[in-house]
Amino acid sequence: MYKLSAIREPVVIHKGLDNVYVKESRICYIDGEASKLFYRGYSIEELASHSTFEETTYLLIYGWLPTHSQLDQITRQLELHRTLEPQFLDLIRKFPAKSDPMDVLRTAVSALALYDPQPMTDDITDKTDKALAILAKVPTIIAAFHRLRTGNNPIPPKGNLSHAAEFLYMLTGRDPDPYDAHVMDVALILHAEHEMNASTFACTVTASTLADMYSVLTSGIGTLRGPLHGGANEAALKTVLEVGNPGNAESYVVDALAHKRRIMGFGHRVYKTWDPRYLILKKLAGELAQKKNQAKLFDTAVAIETSARKHLEGTTIFPNVDSYSGIVFHMLGIETDLFTPIFAMSRISGWTAHAIEYLEANRLIRPKALYVGKLGLPYTPIETRSGKAPE
Ligand SMILES: CC(C)(COP(=O)(O)OP(=O)(O)OC[C@H]1O[C@@H](n2cnc3c(N)ncnc32)[C@H](O)[C@@H]1OP(=O)(O)O)[C@@H](O)C(=O)NCCC(=O)NCCS
Repeated sequence: MYKLSAIREPVVIHKGLDNVYVKESRICYIDGEASKLFYRGYSIEELASHSTFEETTYLLIYGWLPTHSQLDQITRQLELHRTLEPQFLDLIRKFPAKSDPMDVLRTAVSALALYDPQPMTDDITDKTDKALAILAKVPTIIAAFHRLRTGNNPIPPKGNLSHAAEFLYMLTGRDPDPYDAHVMDVALILHAEHEMNASTFACTVTASTLADMYSVLTSGIGTLRGPLHGGANEAALKTVLEVGNPGNAESYVVDALAHKRRIMGFGHRVYKTWDPRYLILKKLAGELAQKKNQAKLFDTAVAIETSARKHLEGTTIFPNVDSYSGIVFHMLGIETDLFTPIFAMSRISGWTAHAIEYLEANRLIRPKALYVGKLGLPYTPIETRSGKAPE
């Protein structure tokens, strides 16, 4: 009979895989102590000021800033794939209107494989092209579902608009205000990549089995779905709406901290100071608030932030990207439950970049679990079983 001690070996368990490196990477660098984030060596501030989501996607996936013709090529590729086939739209029409948009997105991206005559391919270029075709369709899927659930017909892409502007156009059927489209574009850049977070790791694990890109990206969407990953932006907005006005902020924060409730949009596993994306979004949120007469909403968020920082002084809990992203999306007129799908829409660039980078020197990801259960139990007939785990 086996004895557990016979198979025990000295091991270190890395619960949560904290500080475990799974690969070398040239995609993203975060300095959480210095408030720095770089995509392919370019600071997030530079990209937010000068780049576009299309260009940033090219940079993340291919590794360099595109030339005119390379940018034209990716832009055309996205335009070509943005439209949904009527048969696929019919599938979305059948989804229950009450579905969570993240469930819709996860199911729809998975279902796209059914309409691809050859979803499986080992060729890296083909895999990249398939991922870009999915990336192109995701805003169309989100917008189509949102219109259907609100009793409206889906609107096909207009063409000749940016990825960000097309999304806003397909949601409303109106040409978006150029500033709104710019804000959406910057928000997409800011969410496009963030090193080996949970959803990127999930995509990498799936890619390492040589699965197709539909499976890879569906894994990412499923992982982003959890409230510990995507979703904090919704919670942060709800807090601001509940607090209601700047005068209530101090009592809200004091009460939350006294009852050990977390202030949403604060704290981060990696950043132990200001999240650089927060600084960019806060500025945009302030500008949008002025344009849209939403000063009270913005001032309430600032009051919560000021009060929280006062009470959390001396800790490493600072505002993160989600403290203002939900407010920005809200001011753009977007429904709260679309915030995490928008995060996915943007993060597909980073997921793809990491999956492709990993595949270039692939090794199947297969960690171990330390067995601490019993061994060699005698098989008991059903009549004599206790109905609980053996002591
Ligand atoms: C993001 C998050 C999960 C990171 O957490 P982490 O690095 O694993 O840190 P921990 O959860 O271990 O928290 C460490 C301490 O800080 C406190 N803390 C962390 N975030 C806090 C917050 N937003 N508000 C109040 N206290 C917070 C914890 O209560 C804990 O205190 P304790 O040691 O007295 O128990 C956490 O900060 C959080 O839940 N934030 C709110 C949700 C959010 O904004 N998420 C978006 C992240 S981009």
